[in-house]
Amino acid sequence: MVGLARMGIRCGLSADNDNNHAIAPFWMCRMTSHPIAVFDSGLGGLTVLRALRERLPQEDFFYFADTRFLPYGDRTEVFLRERGVLIAEALVKRGAKALVIACNTATAAAAEAIRAAIAVPVVALEPGVKPAVALTSSGVIGVLATTRTLASERFQRLVGNHANHHRVIAQACPGLAEAIEAEGPDSAQVATLLDTFVAPMAAAAADVVVLGCTHYPWVAAAIARRMPPGTTLLDTGEPVARQLERLLAAGNLLGGGTGRLTVATSGAPASVVATVDRLFGEKLKIEHWEPR
Ligand code: DGL
Repeated sequence: MVGLARMGIRCGLSADNDNNHAIAPFWMCRMTSHPIAVFDSGLGGLTVLRALRERLPQEDFFYFADTRFLPYGDRTEVFLRERGVLIAEALVKRGAKALVIACNTATAAAAEAIRAAIAVPVVALEPGVKPAVALTSSGVIGVLATTRTLASERFQRLVGNHANHHRVIAQACPGLAEAIEAEGPDSAQVATLLDTFVAPMAAAAADVVVLGCTHYPWVAAAIARRMPPGTTLLDTGEPVARQLERLLAAGNLLGGGTGRLTVATSGAPASVVATVDRLFGEKLKIEHWEPR
């Protein structure tokens, strides 16, 4: 696996469409039993992982929470690009057959660099502005995301390409991802932050709210309560799962696991266990792992 990545060989994949890679012979592509790696700054990506496991129960997953560097939303683009590439390369060395960047902020800063650095299929996610445009009747769309995601060129492009004729209320939510993890989705601190961040969307009569950070589905019900009845909330777990399935099928990489899940953090496992249990509803053993 390491060798394959280093040699730049890809297993017949066409998704990323660069022609600099040889197509590996069939016997070299027996990677189906390897896990799929998923990473985020913390435990937000578990909302994506849930959708991945539902759609692909025959896959093994390795989930990495880069807790030591949470929140990504307040970090520079250069930091996120370097960290993202380091993590992606280390995950491939560990044996990942595919990678899901379960973080809008990391995608905005690092998706291109990660795709250029590794030779396994990469699924990245971005705020669902395009589906929101298809769904809105009022022509007003709310987007909740991190400061870094909203400031990115990628987000500006997304809005320019798809929502030019719509009103987009883009609301940065500093502190929200950390509060969800540290205090819990039902905490007073999260409630205060949501009061502030959701109010502008309700006032502007947005009828679709895009959850542009993978932490926010943990507080979807609380967001919905602050919006008029009938507001649609959009998250990206399900489309990401479908895209991953397509890429695995195209590369003959589908199946071969047993639904095994390993969770690791760059922080202290003891401080993550209770949060995973609270958010994910599973008592999992958490490893410490340092990408290098
Ligand atoms: N969960 C991440 C996202 O989707 C970012 C949260 C953070 O670390 O700021 O953007």
